[in-house]
Amino acid sequence: MQLDKNITLRPLDYKNELLTFYKSNHLDIALKKSIFYLEGNRTDIWLLNFVGAIHFKLSNYKNAISYYDKILELDDKHFDALNNKGLSLDKLGDFKQAINIFEKLLKFNYNKNYVVLNNLGVSLKNLGIIEKSIEVFKTSIELNPNYLNSYNNLGISYLEKNDLKNAEYYFNQGLLIKNDAPEIFNNLGKIYLIKKKYEKAYEFYLNSISLNENDISVWGNLAICLLEMDLFVYNKNQELLFLQILNKNVQVNPRNIALKGLQLLKLNPEFKNLINKEFPLGFKDLDSLKELANNKLFSRILEVAPISDLEIEKLLIEFRKFILLNLSKVMSLTKLLPFLISLAKQCFVNEYIFKVTENEEKLLLILVNNIKSKIKKGTYIDPFKISCIACYQKLYDFNIFKPEFFNSKIQSLVIEQIKNVQDEKEIEKNIYKVVNIKDKTSKLVKQQYEENPYPKWTEHIEPVSYNSLKNYLKKSGLRFDSDHLCNDYPKQILIAGCGTGKQAIDAALTFKNAEITAIDLSKASLSYAIRKSKEIGIRNINFMMCDINDIELLNRRFDIIECVGVLHHMENPFIGWKKLASILNDGGFMFIGLYSEIARRNISSMRKIIKKLKISPTKTNILKFRNDLIYNKNKRCKNFVNWSDFYNFSEFRDLLFHVQEHCFSISKIKSYIQRLGFIFSGFENDEAKIKFLMNNKNSDLFDLEKWKEFEINNKDIFCGMYQFWIQKIKDNPSE
Ligand SMILES: C[S@@+](CC[C@H](N)C(=O)[O-])C[C@H]1O[C@@H](n2cnc3c(N)ncnc32)[C@H](O)[C@@H]1O
Repeated sequence: MQLDKNITLRPLDYKNELLTFYKSNHLDIALKKSIFYLEGNRTDIWLLNFVGAIHFKLSNYKNAISYYDKILELDDKHFDALNNKGLSLDKLGDFKQAINIFEKLLKFNYNKNYVVLNNLGVSLKNLGIIEKSIEVFKTSIELNPNYLNSYNNLGISYLEKNDLKNAEYYFNQGLLIKNDAPEIFNNLGKIYLIKKKYEKAYEFYLNSISLNENDISVWGNLAICLLEMDLFVYNKNQELLFLQILNKNVQVNPRNIALKGLQLLKLNPEFKNLINKEFPLGFKDLDSLKELANNKLFSRILEVAPISDLEIEKLLIEFRKFILLNLSKVMSLTKLLPFLISLAKQCFVNEYIFKVTENEEKLLLILVNNIKSKIKKGTYIDPFKISCIACYQKLYDFNIFKPEFFNSKIQSLVIEQIKNVQDEKEIEKNIYKVVNIKDKTSKLVKQQYEENPYPKWTEHIEPVSYNSLKNYLKKSGLRFDSDHLCNDYPKQILIAGCGTGKQAIDAALTFKNAEITAIDLSKASLSYAIRKSKEIGIRNINFMMCDINDIELLNRRFDIIECVGVLHHMENPFIGWKKLASILNDGGFMFIGLYSEIARRNISSMRKIIKKLKISPTKTNILKFRNDLIYNKNKRCKNFVNWSDFYNFSEFRDLLFHVQEHCFSISKIKSYIQRLGFIFSGFENDEAKIKFLMNNKNSDLFDLEKWKEFEINNKDIFCGMYQFWIQKIKDNPSE
């Protein structure tokens, strides 16, 4: 007998069942079940709306719209379908369409016009029509003076206008309606961050987090605030906050957070005592060392980024030495093991930049031989010993360790130092090569980056993604000729000289529907990039080996080309730049990063000394030179320890021992841009822009002559390179 599908497939209380899954965030189950029930009745409007809502929550806005459209085929005035379709279009960046829908909905005069007006205001604001959005939010508030969202959004529109007074007023009005609204506290925090009243901003962020600790963007704002705050007194709660921030994927550079966290720890007199031990360390210091090893924030800081602090570096060097020298006695102190693992991770992340004595080298050799014989006999290997070795050299290099030898205590170390390296070697075999590298300079540069891929990065921050190029350009404060825009969404993006892939992965996440091509000379860098992009789950990047000098062999054209920290390592940067410009679509954009002659003045003179002394760039020579700089009393030598590149081997090599390096001035850049037929769209260097505007009130951020003057008076402002955007206006550059 054939049963009636409607009756058999859908339980009576299906709405409750589905809502329970939805509310408990089991969206995949809710989606499967509701689609199953829809099979029974394809015109169930409640179900269609529900499936749309799940897709919306999963950020699948196109799918969401397809369900709302099904409802609209049945009832073209359906409130929820129209309203939710408008919201989905807004999320897709199609603000104009969203506005059309909300305006249409207003005409139907449902009793929820205050909601529609609020949504209309948001799309207007997103489209940059701020004044109108303010008017619309105010009308929404007139219709329903208790509607919190409109107060909050009205405040945000005033924030966009930089009208902090009104923004604060409306956020506070929102708090009168609901005094525990985390989003309002977050926005008040933003106001005080802009006002540079960091203590107050900090309080607002803490309030917001105490009401909802799951909003990652608030944690990010709190991190930005902590970075700006002057920390004078140690505070245990702040220590916990730093730890939580480092354990979350906030959109702030973990290296900066780690450094600031370290600053805080050093304010703790107990911690200060621990790090101010007299060297060499002995058993008399054991209790202090155990306590140091117990500090969770300190361990975490060691894992995320190279420690840019010489005082701590010296302590860690001594700690490592103490462990190796007294291994048999300290091995029973199992509480030290997690810290030793963190230290091994620090050494791996700084690429073994710490000084090693001859005695340590000898002891290490004995230890490695001892383990080799244990491996042969198949006897137990203590994780303490392995972690100790991993503090001196990555485990993969010994060629004797297999991941399966080790127990779970050191699994993360084994993955990092053996498995990932093995994976990269495998990946390297299959990297697509466009052509053999022929250029003499490119060959030398390739060799350097095969030995030392740059930059070695671990933690990743997910950037904001964009659905339209215009929105991206506007949000980034870039100048562009909109009549001349290549595509409203960049389809093809080239990352020229992608190194270890961070830049390409950021581009792939910023423009999720673009196809990214990422080229580099170094297969070792490319394989690192490919492994990391797989780890993060990126699918829209094609990595390949290619020289910018041969870029025409790609036979492709691009809407955006990014080339940061690369052209200045070519024999003739202008030829490279011009070649890239020739494969950029008309109206397209380039993002360029170049060394500044002024900011690198000390580096250039030190490079000359290195050249004169004929110091070849071997690992031993580079490390010895670095150590000499640390102990040199000369003020100019001391300056180098302030560069963050001083604390990681590849970065240090890049800083002072690069095989090829050119430096640029703003005048030179200006003339290149003109010769290529581009317009200057703006610098990316945020700090420089803020300082520039403070010094040049009402001045034009795109006036390179003004920037030239500004740099002369602020010589270190571009120490992290000139990073700027340019737009191609003419297809036939003058020579
Ligand atoms: C300092 S790294 C910068 C990496 C990346 N752009 C970033 O900002 O993180 C320079 C990279 O440019 C690559 N490179 C240098 N000259 C190149 C050329 N002629 N063609 C392709 N890549 C090149 C190097 O192999 C190296 O990986």
